[in-house]
This record gives sequence, C-alpha cells and structure tokens, in this order.
Amino acid sequence: MGVETADIDTRARGTSEANAAAFAPRADDVFARIATRYDSLCDLFSVGAHRLWKEHLARRIAELPGREVLDLATGTGDIPARVLRRLPAGHGRTLRVTDLCPQMLDMARAKLRGAPAGVSLDLADAEGLSDFADASMDIVSIAFAMKICDRRRVAAEAFRVLRPGGRFLVLEAARIPWAPLHTTYLAYMDLCLPLIARLATGGDRGAYDYLLKGVHTFPSQGAFAAELAAIGFREVSWRDLTLGIVALHEARKPG
Ligand SMILES: C[S@@+](CC[C@H](N)C(=O)[O-])C[C@H]1O[C@@H](n2cnc3c(N)ncnc32)[C@H](O)[C@@H]1O
Repeated sequence: MGVETADIDTRARGTSEANAAAFAPRADDVFARIATRYDSLCDLFSVGAHRLWKEHLARRIAELPGREVLDLATGTGDIPARVLRRLPAGHGRTLRVTDLCPQMLDMARAKLRGAPAGVSLDLADAEGLSDFADASMDIVSIAFAMKICDRRRVAAEAFRVLRPGGRFLVLEAARIPWAPLHTTYLAYMDLCLPLIARLATGGDRGAYDYLLKGVHTFPSQGAFAAELAAIGFREVSWRDLTLGIVALHEARKPG
C-alpha cells in the first residue's frame, strides 16, 4: 500500500479556515527540510515536554482494545515507537504509520528499525485516506498535526475509516483555560520561539511560523470537541496537559 507523493491532491489544494496554521505542503516543504532535525527542534521548542505529552497518547493507545491502529502525520514516528514500547510481546496489533512527507517517513522507518512485525509505513494524506477502507481501523491517532491540516477533513476521514466503537485520539496545542495565563503564554511564545528557532534552524522561518500561527488559532478544547461531535463522534472528551497548553481529545464512533 502507498500513495505516490505526486498523487496526493492536498498539494494542489489551497488552505481552508479549518487549517489553523494555513499550512500548504505544496507551497512549503518545511518538513522535508527539517526532517533530520525535527526531534531536537521538538525538544528545544517544548523544553522536552513533548515527550511527556506523547507518552499520554501512547499509553492511551496501548491500553485501548482493538487490533488495527492508524497513526496519521506520524513525523519521525515518535508515537508508534512509544506505543510499541508499551505493548507486550506477541501483542498481535497492526500499526499503520503514515505521513505526507517521504523524508519524515524515512526518519520514522529508522526510528522503528526497519518495520517490526505488524508495522507498516506508507505515504498518506490525512485529509484524504483513499487507500484505507471504510470501517477498517480500531484506533486513529494524530499528534501535533491537526493544526496544520484541514482538521474537519481529517476528522471526517478518521470517522469514515474507524469501525463502529473505534476511537479517534488527537494530541494538539490547546488553550490554557485561565485566559490571562494563556495570553501570557502566547506572548512568551511570540517573543521567544522566533529567537530560539532562528538560531536552531539557521533562519528557516517556516519551521516555527506554522507552529506559532497554529498555536494562536487552533480552537479551544470545547470548540474542537463540538466540531468532532458535529462530524458524528460521541463520548467526546479531553484531558488538559501542562495546564492546558496541550490537550488530548478522545472521541468514539458510535455503534
Ligand atoms: C508537527 S509534525 C508532527 C509529527 C508527529 N506526529 C509528532 O507528534 O512528532 C507534523 C507532521 O505532519 C505531516 N503532515 C502535514 N500535513 C499532512 C497531511 N495532510 N497528511 C499527512 N501528514 C501531514 C508533516 O509531514 C509532519 O511530518
């Protein structure tokens, strides 16, 4: 299975208001440029906290029942790597690891040491999962990429490919519920992130522009939960992490 990069029509689409960061992969191959540095940039930008946030998602994936797991926009494969560490030997799960960017997928392949039994890595557009059948997955996850995609299209595709009863898990930047603290956090990000990132990337603005814009404009936890419910998900809930800088949403496809 796999999709040729040229066939992925996201590259021909513009961005929509449901794409919080207004990220257009066709216009900017930022993830191809930063693939080899992506993990260190995550450590730098989050002061290491992304590791804890990702552990929450990986733990939840590992504890949920269901055989077929699909990780969207996997980047360097941090989420599947963490899930695999938590699963017992002979777990019998199938992990479908996907991303739009071949260079990121190469990093994921290296991190997952080739592809352990039950793991497959493929190019796939989270906004149009044409190679995935309806009702074929038990869990669909996405970490820190919902803000750079058309989130409604991604959620609708997750809904389509999930089996009834399947879960959609989204780890994403969120809003600190106490507004003054959130405003302070955004001011800190606006001030410090460009400075740190300019040094770390040699002035590659793309590496942090999307992050900043997405952090500013991604909906609040409640508003995003309402969007998931409007698509058809039920039992939509979320857990704030680090005061609500990040949230882990979970939603169930009815049935
Ligand atoms: C910020 S990184 C997140 C990577 C990883 N999930 C993590 O938490 O470390 C965003 C990833 O989304 C991928 N991406 C962006 N748009 C995408 C799309 N429409 N479909 C699939 N992947 C996409 C990029 O190539 C990149 O690897």
